[in-house]
Amino acid sequence: MSEKMRTLTEPFKIKMVEPLKVTTEEYRKEALKKAGYNPFLLKSSDVFIDFLTDSGTGAMSDKQWAGIMMGDESYAGARSWEHLEKVVKDLTGMPYILPTHQGRAAERILYGILGGKGKVFISNTHFDTTRANIEFTGATAIDIVYEEAEDPEADLPFKGNIHLEKLRELIKKHGKENIAAVIITVTNNSSGGQPVSMANVQALRKICDEYGLLLVIDGCRIAENAYFIKHREEGFSNKSCEEIAKQMLRLGDAFVMSAKKDAIVNIGGLLTVRNEELAVKCKNLLIISEGFTTYGGLAGRDMEALAIGLTEVFDEDYLHYRIRSTAYLGERLKSKGVPVVWPIGGHAVYVDAKKLYNQIPVEQFPGQALVCDLYIKGGIRAVEIGSLMFGKNDVNGKMIPAINELVRLAIPRRVYTQSHIDYVLDIFDDILELRNQKTGYKITYEPPFLRHFSALLEKNLK
Ligand code: F0G
Repeated sequence: MSEKMRTLTEPFKIKMVEPLKVTTEEYRKEALKKAGYNPFLLKSSDVFIDFLTDSGTGAMSDKQWAGIMMGDESYAGARSWEHLEKVVKDLTGMPYILPTHQGRAAERILYGILGGKGKVFISNTHFDTTRANIEFTGATAIDIVYEEAEDPEADLPFKGNIHLEKLRELIKKHGKENIAAVIITVTNNSSGGQPVSMANVQALRKICDEYGLLLVIDGCRIAENAYFIKHREEGFSNKSCEEIAKQMLRLGDAFVMSAKKDAIVNIGGLLTVRNEELAVKCKNLLIISEGFTTYGGLAGRDMEALAIGLTEVFDEDYLHYRIRSTAYLGERLKSKGVPVVWPIGGHAVYVDAKKLYNQIPVEQFPGQALVCDLYIKGGIRAVEIGSLMFGKNDVNGKMIPAINELVRLAIPRRVYTQSHIDYVLDIFDDILELRNQKTGYKITYEPPFLRHFSALLEKNLK
């Protein structure tokens, strides 16, 4: 299709629609108050544009829905399992494929086996469920990105890269026998949806070989990452995104995937490993906690849709639309004067709330204040990725804030049209106008793990 085309059109048409409820600002104020100022606790029917996550929220294609009807629901050795196993083996080049009900189930199994007290996991950035599953075993999770990646304005092509020199230091410090695994998250969700270069993973592979370490690829956005490599890294412009993803996956010893992202299904996950001994341990845990090895936590129809989605996602026109449409939102926000993490990542736009709401101290969660305003002004649901999600308390109960206070606008795959996105841009005009009148929030209830999911807050009016 012509590169001169000005409007980025969606490379699909709509066959089935789901109505959205239009609500008033008064209604939303009440709903948010009832939800303890935590949008995770809102009813989705009260949300107009749902940017909470790109996970499990994508629209399946006609072929995937047809696959749902063709699902084989046999307990063992189902046809749908054979289909899924073939697609995943082909993609990963790994011999042992385990289906799970979602990404964190794969994490619980793999890190439950590898982890334990005294063990250390090192990653570019552990996603929150990854960290929680590791810490739950008593092990430690350490994030190492390059300093520039923590600067929301540094304009670099691969801000998701793992810090290779720091990795060597950490191996020496903790001893290679205590490093349970190195995990490379592509794209790097928690630090802005930023891509990881092939060169970085190749160098990482070399270090892992040198010290005999296990390399895990958390690749739930492996196709989006491949698009960035194709367009930003030298030597890849003539390769297909699928070839690039295959090349990267062949560098790993294990692969965990939340299929709810780049396999464009509403539920599903994968764990694949290269080593037989590890595969046997994983399969034993899979059977105890998820289900038999040929369905894991999934119905046959889910596996069918997953196999089809994992193929469709590598369509070059789809990936171009996907990455460019996310950038459309981010670039326009930036030109309005909204501070955003730059460059724009694959699945989401991250707003720098510390900058936008600079009058709110980090102890009062400026990110959460923006999340609440987006809902009240526009019925838009987003998620805070800052001190509410990652902040810790020291021994005196004083908060140690996160490095950044970001708000993630995660874009579901194939769901919203450009006019939905233009509406979001209009709401940001209201936010910019009112930003200096904003107050922060304080927590009134928090659970011991993953507090952002269920914490309750109130306005800090002091
Ligand atoms: N790894 C990464 C990089 C993720 O982004 C997620 C989920 C998981 C693992 C866990 O997968 O949800 O299927 O259990 N991320 C979602 C998000 C929840 O909103 O970014 P899961």
